[in-house]
Order: sequence, then structure tokens, then C-alpha cells
Amino acid sequence: MEKERNNESRKLSFYVHVPYCVKRCGYCDFNTYTPSELNSPDLKGITTSYIDSALKEIELASGKLGKIQVETIFFGGGTPSLLPAQEVSRVIAKISALFEIRPNAEITLEANPDTITESFLDSIRESGVNRISIGMQSAVPHVLNTLDRTHNPDNVVKSCELARKLGFEHLSVDLIYGIPGESFQDWQRSFEAALQLPIDHISAYALIVETGTKLAAQIKRGELLMPADDETAEKYLQFDAAATSLGFNWYELSNWAIPGAESLHNKAYWNGSSWWGVGPGAHSFIEGRRWWNVKHPRKYQELISQNRSPEQDSEVLSLENMRDEFVMLRIRTREGIPLERLTDKQLEIANQFKNSGYIESLTWRDSLLVLTAKGRLIADRIVRELLV
Ligand SMILES: C[S@@+](CC[C@H](N)C(=O)[O-])C[C@H]1O[C@@H](n2cnc3c(N)ncnc32)[C@H](O)[C@@H]1O
Ligand code: SF4
Repeated sequence: MEKERNNESRKLSFYVHVPYCVKRCGYCDFNTYTPSELNSPDLKGITTSYIDSALKEIELASGKLGKIQVETIFFGGGTPSLLPAQEVSRVIAKISALFEIRPNAEITLEANPDTITESFLDSIRESGVNRISIGMQSAVPHVLNTLDRTHNPDNVVKSCELARKLGFEHLSVDLIYGIPGESFQDWQRSFEAALQLPIDHISAYALIVETGTKLAAQIKRGELLMPADDETAEKYLQFDAAATSLGFNWYELSNWAIPGAESLHNKAYWNGSSWWGVGPGAHSFIEGRRWWNVKHPRKYQELISQNRSPEQDSEVLSLENMRDEFVMLRIRTREGIPLERLTDKQLEIANQFKNSGYIESLTWRDSLLVLTAKGRLIADRIVRELLV
């Protein structure tokens, strides 16, 4: 009886990491590997063998959690659209056999426009994937070139049209802005092209220069020049206004959606729900314990093949950690922070930001802290000051 009650209250999201890409983009430091880095040209063979291991980790999750309800599944990467379609199907079938996938659960797959084909989309739709997130990044050839992206911008349009034709319920694209050599006109051309697509969700990320990437080396050598921060901030505001005018409302700092098309998987992260990350380097969070797996796919597969846990390390969050996390995550969202969750000192600090126009006055009156567009630009600073 107790177990049943617990099962009812415990809901889960699955993140399934696919740590492979055909080629590494110059700006990206995600945990992903190319055939040349793996010394193996046979990506199909590699991915099939990898999914065998991922299925075993899902069995491990089932052994620990029982048959609880799964609300969302997200295939992220790397490049999940590199998987043979039957491998996507095997993962969903395994989760379905061992857990209870909620009717109409959100099942997303991240796709690189270079690797999308009609037969792939058709098969994964059949398997239950109902949301596609496409890495568009930009619509301007010289900007894509600076990003070291190989895809043709026309492929993004074709992929979106295909996905719609095949009946995917939700469709999102990712954009990056604040790129060396990208003018305001370039950025406007990119986001206008994106907002014209048959999408219901869009993510726009300011370019982060990650240490150790090709991009970081080009900047260090003076070959590329990063734009000034205030120019990148201006691009955020320019995009926010354009997206809002077309009915895409922000619901997290870097995410906008038509009402009802917000990603449930994203919201599960930001609301502190439980998720299990399958695969090398994947993080999990269940009832206050966070853990992460070994980073390299080879080590991951080795541990799984020995029937050992792929977990590398973990931490248990104290009540104070959980309170801080709540502030850190929820301040990024339109849902905002109920003022009763803040201490008197934090309220005093937040009140000053409100008086300077960084926090919405209207929602404040309803006892909710929600950032204004100007406030979203300095969200990190506001969090730092709230959490001293
Ligand atoms: C795993 S990738 C998406 C799927 C696919 N691998 C692709 O690139 O087409 C997730 C997203 O993270 C964003 N991203 C990756 N590295 C970034 C960086 N250094 N700065 C900003 N955004 C980044 C990109 O928008 C990318 O689409
Ligand atoms: S941005 Fe996407 S395609 Fe490019 S290396 Fe990173 S994960 Fe792979």
C-alpha cells in the first residue's frame, strides 16, 4: 500500500544521451565523440552496441524505482538523429515495458538537420516520438561557417516541413546569437527565418565560448573577435520582442513557446522533478540525490557489461542546497518564485531590483518574483546577490 502511494506521487523523466556526432562543431564541448575520435568509421555498429548498454541502464533504473509513471523522454546529444530508427524504438519499448509511460507523454528527439530523412522521421513517429528539436543555429551562411556548422540552411526548412507532414505534434528549433562577425541584420535574418517555420517552440542561446574548443583557440589567436556584451544583450531583446509579437512567449530565459507548447521535459528540470539520465556523462536527480555517470562511452559500456553501475559520483542536497537550487532554477522561469519562498533579507534585495525595473511590479503584487526582459539579461547577477 505504502509502495503504491509512493509510486503515485513519484513521476519520472528520462534523458537518454546519444554521445556521437559525425563531426564536432567548433563551439561545442558537449560530451560527444566523432568516428575519428573513436578510431572507428562504423557509427551504425557503435550506436547499436551503445543502445544495448543504455537498455541495461534502464533495467537498472527499473530495479531501483519500480514501475513508476514516466512523463517525458528526451533523446539528447550529441546527435540522436544519427541513431538507426529501430534503436530509438528499442529504447522506448524498453521504457514502456518496465515503466508506465503516461498517455500523451512528451517524447522528444534532438536532430541535426544534416541527418534527418523522411524514413527516419516516419519510423520514430511510429515508435512514439512526438516532438522534434532541430539544431538550426543560424540561417546565414557566413555565420554557420564561423560556427563550423556543415548543414545547409535549406535542410532546416525541409526537415520542419517533413516533420509537420508526418504528424509530429511539437517542433522546436535552436538558435545561437552573439557570434563573431554576426551583424544585427544577420541575427534578424536568422530569427525571422526561424519564426516563419511551422514550429511551436524556439530556444535561443547566447554563444558560450567553451575552453578547449576550436572556437576558443580561434578567438585566442585573434582570428575571431567576440561581439561586445551589450550588443549580445541587445540581440536578446530584439529577439524577445519579435518572438512575443508572433505569439511565442518566453517561459525560461532561453526558451519561448506558443501557449501550451512549452517543453514538459524542460519544465521538469526547472521544477525540481525527478529525472534519470541514461548514458555516459548523464546526470540524474531523484529525491534530493544527484549523481552522474562516467564520461566516456567506452568506460560506460565496460561497467555496464560487468553488471556494474555506471555512476561516477553523487551528492545529496541539504535542505539549504535545495532552497538555493529552487531560487537558481525558478528565477529563470516565467512561473517565477513565490515571494514566501524568500527570506526577509532576500526580499529586501529583490525589492531593490524591482524598483530598478529588473523584476515585474505587476506579478510582485501577486507575491511572485518574475524577471522583466531587462532583468533576464542580468539573471546571474541577481541570483548571486540573492544567494550571498
Ligand atoms: C546537442 S545540441 C542539438 C542537436 C544537434 N547536436 C545539433 O547541434 O544540431 C544542443 C544545442 O545546444 C546549443 N549549444 C551547444 N553548444 C553551445 C555553445 N557553446 N553556446 C551556445 N549554445 C550552444 C546549440 O544550439 C545546440 O543546438
Ligand atoms: S552542436 Fe550538436 S552536432 Fe555540433 S558537435 Fe555539438 S552536439 Fe554535435
